[in-house]
Amino acid sequence: MEIRRINEAYPIELMLLADPSEKLIKQYLKRGKCYIGEENGEIVGVFVLLSTRPETVELVNIAVVEKHQGKGFGKALVIDAINKAKEHGYKVMEVGTGNSSIDQLALYQKCGFRIIGVDIDFFTIHYEEEINENGIPCVDMIRLAQLL
Ligand code: COA
Repeated sequence: MEIRRINEAYPIELMLLADPSEKLIKQYLKRGKCYIGEENGEIVGVFVLLSTRPETVELVNIAVVEKHQGKGFGKALVIDAINKAKEHGYKVMEVGTGNSSIDQLALYQKCGFRIIGVDIDFFTIHYEEEINENGIPCVDMIRLAQLL
């Protein structure tokens, strides 16, 4: 997979898999750096890095095209995002995911993130539509971080 930064023609449909709010996606695309992963010229994944606090970067959107999920692209993108953050001199990397996102919680912890907190009712407050995954209502944001 080849990973490169893009500044336009963002794969919004793909990004909606990670974040159902197009409004929020467009907001952080203005401030963040967007990278796509391509395999044989086809987009297979995307991630966005956003500077938050001093020396801190957040992985705010990561998604793999549905038919290509479970093949290792997601893990490769997370590892690449961590390496890019290190290269750019960040000291801390953060990521957040829903309380119901069991696979994502596994993926992030396998890539070195540890749970640092819970944003209670984050999804109830910021998202109009109800989110349900794995039969679990998604209401709280689990915050994870790692030192780079
Ligand atoms: N069941 C259980 N665990 C799974 C899984 C499944 N069906 N698919 C992935 N995982 C977990 C495993 O722990 C796996 O680790 P392993 O390689 O040690 O087995 C790890 O995720 C990485 O798998 P990978 O194939 O690299 O993941 P992926 O390419 O499917 O990408 C996502 C992972 C989350 C990016 C992808 O599934 C996706 O785009 N989901 C929708 C968008 C989304 O939820 N984004 C994150 C928002 S917080």
